[in-house]
Amino acid sequence: MYKMDQTQTPIFDALMEYHNRDTVPFHVPGHKRGDGMDNKFKDFVGSNILSIDVTVFKLVDSLHHPTGPIKKAMQLAADAYGSDMAFISIHGTSGAIQAMIMSVVKEGDKIIIPRNVHKSVTAGIILSGAVPVYMQPEIDKNIGIAHGVTPETVERTIKENPDAKAVLIINPTYYGVATDIKRIAEIVHSYDKILIVDEAHGPHLGFNDKLPISSMQAGADICAQSTHKIIGSMTQSSFLQVRAGRVDINRVQQVMNLLQTTSPSYPLMASLDVARMQIATKGKELLDRAIELAEYTREKINQIPGLYCFGKEILGQPGVYALDPTKITVTVRGLGLTGYEVDQILADEYHIQMELSDLYNILAVGSFGDTKEKMDKFIDALKDISDRYYGTREVKGEVLDIPAIPKQVLTPRQAFNAKKWSLPLHDSIGKVSGEFLLAYPPGIPIVCPGEIITQEIVDYVQALKDANLYVQGTEDPDVNFIKVVDME
Ligand SMILES: Cc1ncc(COP(=O)(O)O)c(C=O)c1O
Repeated sequence: MYKMDQTQTPIFDALMEYHNRDTVPFHVPGHKRGDGMDNKFKDFVGSNILSIDVTVFKLVDSLHHPTGPIKKAMQLAADAYGSDMAFISIHGTSGAIQAMIMSVVKEGDKIIIPRNVHKSVTAGIILSGAVPVYMQPEIDKNIGIAHGVTPETVERTIKENPDAKAVLIINPTYYGVATDIKRIAEIVHSYDKILIVDEAHGPHLGFNDKLPISSMQAGADICAQSTHKIIGSMTQSSFLQVRAGRVDINRVQQVMNLLQTTSPSYPLMASLDVARMQIATKGKELLDRAIELAEYTREKINQIPGLYCFGKEILGQPGVYALDPTKITVTVRGLGLTGYEVDQILADEYHIQMELSDLYNILAVGSFGDTKEKMDKFIDALKDISDRYYGTREVKGEVLDIPAIPKQVLTPRQAFNAKKWSLPLHDSIGKVSGEFLLAYPPGIPIVCPGEIITQEIVDYVQALKDANLYVQGTEDPDVNFIKVVDME
């Protein structure tokens, strides 16, 4: 299935050659393969990682102008993921997302995006000067999270904005929910637009049939993947995959060079190289095991009073086309505790650290680094917490309906650069917001910078507060004040 020999690891091999030659380093970094580094750090991390912490020279190649092992590693990654070009991002998926947006849209271009994008999308829009057009994702009121956007929402928004240049979707979501991305790709391309995918949570898709299909398999034009989040590379190392045709690959290279450091970390790049080899050559069996363990855990958690861990039964709900079973979302609402509280109890009392928590849920990210022992420890801790709290507290109500998306009068870039001042929220009706206001759950902005604050929004914030739900985003933690744009 691959065109290249995926067992190769060219970046790692070049670093091994450098290490084995026992090269004398008159280059940066100044710790000189660890010799100049204080023992406090070195004794803990060991000398090997410091020996390959090098800088740009011919043997190890240059990220900005790759001609040797980095170029080969990029070709191998493109081959593994079925793209035409793979770029290495050592600024995480945030850096890759900013680069995707800046490669595709310019000042004044319209880009269609879900309302609940990661802040790196907003950053990319501010940097590019593009105009966002928002789509509302589907909201699951029971679990209190946002799922994907539906193909119908995408098509309707394109019809309403025929001048839009590109559509960005998040697939899968943080919680492992995938939309019908193949259908979305067909729709977007039938209107001759570019499909950008935030695939931060999907670098393992495409390597096991039990997982949703990947964005490249679905026909997307460009995607960013947090290789470091789900598979075996180190934090900050991600891939940006491009399909030739609608996206100009040379422009992507230029933008990556504009945004990325000239001193990329070689241990990070080598770990990315090896992670690609691992997923391409052993992904199926490793993922089989991860999926099996996650399914076991899900089944056990669903037997614990007060807890719910969604699975296949939600397939077919709006925005839920396929599921990544390695993500374990535990809805703790039935205990009368918030996800934040359970997260803290698990960390403080059981030394178990969750990936994230929200008002109703905690999220455990499964991967091939898990074992049955670790899963059993998690299950036992949850049983214990349930024994202590189930039936003793009032259970929170359902998510409130989100108000309509307000009118946008400034682009995020204009709002970012504008002069702002603070006003009591109740006096801000009719003003242009200089800040986000996010409703939790499900973590969706009800106002973005550059949008008009309405009576409906102010009433909604009050309703959230009255229902003991959360609203966040403003500099004022109590959301009594909001920064508005000085339009004079
Ligand atoms: C949906 C989504 N996109 C992008 C990112 C950014 O990824 P990174 O942390 O690799 O910069 C995240 C991070 O959590 C995310 O959840």
